Amino acid sequence: MRIGIIGAGNMGAALGKLWAKAGHQVIFSYSRDEAKLSQLAASAGVTAKAGTLQEAAQSDVILLAVWLPVLAEVMQAAGSLEGKVIITCVSGLQPDFTGQTIGLATDLTLSVAETIQQLAPHAKVVEAFNTTFAEIIASDSRQFGADIPSVFYCGDDLEAKEKVAGLIADCGYAAVDAGSLQVARTLETLATAWVQFAVASQQFPNLGLKALRR
Ligand SMILES: NC(=O)c1ccc[n+]([C@@H]2O[C@H](COP(=O)([O-])OP(=O)(O)OC[C@H]3O[C@@H](n4cnc5c(N)ncnc54)[C@H](OP(=O)(O)O)[C@@H]3O)[C@@H](O)[C@H]2O)c1
Repeated sequence: MRIGIIGAGNMGAALGKLWAKAGHQVIFSYSRDEAKLSQLAASAGVTAKAGTLQEAAQSDVILLAVWLPVLAEVMQAAGSLEGKVIITCVSGLQPDFTGQTIGLATDLTLSVAETIQQLAPHAKVVEAFNTTFAEIIASDSRQFGADIPSVFYCGDDLEAKEKVAGLIADCGYAAVDAGSLQVARTLETLATAWVQFAVASQQFPNLGLKALRR
């Protein structure tokens, strides 16, 4: 699969490297430091390269992993996202972790993921990875002994969700379907609570979230 990483920070770098390792063609893009993108691509292996935001946006699947205040500007600069599967892990967590800003300024009742869908109405948006800490994804052992963290995902397009479930599995995690894109409102809230718990319990980032079944 061709995967464009928009936002080569903690999350973009960690996920992009794993997907490149799994054999996907990965383009790392969007950093204020061009050298960082080339170094990242070189460390990710032969199926990875650095590119522009527009090149990354032409991939089949796009990971949006940017800082919330630049999200709308980044999406506008990316060009047409029609037909693309967009995975978003962008959270509305406030920088001081005291709470969350849901959506962007246009409509504060919507989740960030739904706002992305509004900005790219012909794309297939799936929310995923927002309760998985980048430090864990980037670590050599991404699991917790025999425990495999759950990665909750939600979206409205079944085919897109299937692809994202496969990409979650490629990272070694258990994909858990949380429902429609509207569920992102509560999934993003869960992500905020999860970060707050990790910080309050002084266990950040050494925690994984797992849905137990019986
Ligand atoms: N880190 C986690 O564990 C985690 C987990 C779940 C969800 N998330 C969410 O995923 C998204 C990405 O997180 P991250 O930790 O990967 O973020 P990050 O490392 O801080 O940065 C991600 C991207 O945003 C850009 N960026 C950061 N600060 C910026 C600024 N002041 N102005 C312009 N661009 C800026 C970075 O560009 P540069 O390369 O130039 O810095 C990078 O491309 C965020 O919305 C975060 O809330 C994070």
